[in-house]
This record gives sequence, structure tokens and C-alpha cells, in this order.
Amino acid sequence: MAESLLIDHSATKEEKYQAILPQIEALVFGEEDAYANLSNIAAALKEAFGFFWVGFYLVKGGQLVLGPFQGPIACTRINYGKGVCGTAWEKKKTLVVPNVDEFPGHIACSSGSKSEIVVPCIKENEVKLVLDIDSDNFASFDEVDARYLEELMPVIAKFL
Ligand code: SME
Repeated sequence: MAESLLIDHSATKEEKYQAILPQIEALVFGEEDAYANLSNIAAALKEAFGFFWVGFYLVKGGQLVLGPFQGPIACTRINYGKGVCGTAWEKKKTLVVPNVDEFPGHIACSSGSKSEIVVPCIKENEVKLVLDIDSDNFASFDEVDARYLEELMPVIAKFL
């Protein structure tokens, strides 16, 4: 396993995703523990992009339960269909929210969060977890983030 990530901080967002995704694949290769891998993925995304909050909520006992993350403390449980995370779980699709105040039912874990993207990881037709990323700026996420973060989901599904 590599000991550090190679990140060109002057690169575009798309170039960073193209550089970081193979490094994440290498990071989790040969390790089957989901929490260890999710912890490193959260850390890698935080280091590459400097997101305000990045982490995982795992489906457990009919709720989303907080998993490995980087950033300020967060809500521990989210119900099906609630907030951005619970809605992405219900709809089984990526949600990009340019302004969290305009999303009905948004769950504000931190007042610092202004925009958000949530990407579900689906295995055997069921959502197993969601990746949640928050920014402290409005409109930080777009289809580029959605496309590359969705590419990460099969990598995660393999070790779940
Ligand atoms: N804002 C999320 C809750 C999780 S925190 O942002 C970490 C939501 O509405 O589901």
C-alpha cells in the first residue's frame, strides 16, 4: 500500500478525480475490512479536495448509521427518505444539492454546510451505504463530481 497520495493541488477537479480514483483502488486492494477501507477513502477524498465534510452512512437495521468520516461531528442516524442522504437511499440515485437551505427536509448537522452531494452504493439491487460530501460554499458539486464519485461505487461494493 502506498504511504501517501500523489495530488497536484493546481490540477482541475476532473484531473484530480482522474488521478485519485486509481490511487483509491490501490489503497483498498487486498484489504477486505470495510471500515478500514472506508476510513482511508474518506481521508483520501478530504486530502485531495479539501471538502468541508466527507463520509459514509451505512444502512443498518432500517436506518442510515454514521460510518467513517472526515470533518466536524455529525448526526449519527438518518431515517429512510429523510434529508438528502435518506432521499438518495430511497431514490437509489445521486443527489446534487447546490443550496442545502432549498432542499426540503435537509438535515443540518453543521451550519457550515452550504451544498452537498450524496451518492448511493448499490449492491445486489440494494443500497448498502451512501457517500455524503458537504461543502462550505454554495454550488460546489456538479455532474463531474457525480460521474467520478459514481465510478468509485463499484470499487466500494467489492469489499462490502
Ligand atoms: N445533510 C445530510 C445529513 C448528514 S450531514 O450533512 C453530515 C442530510 O440532509 O441527509
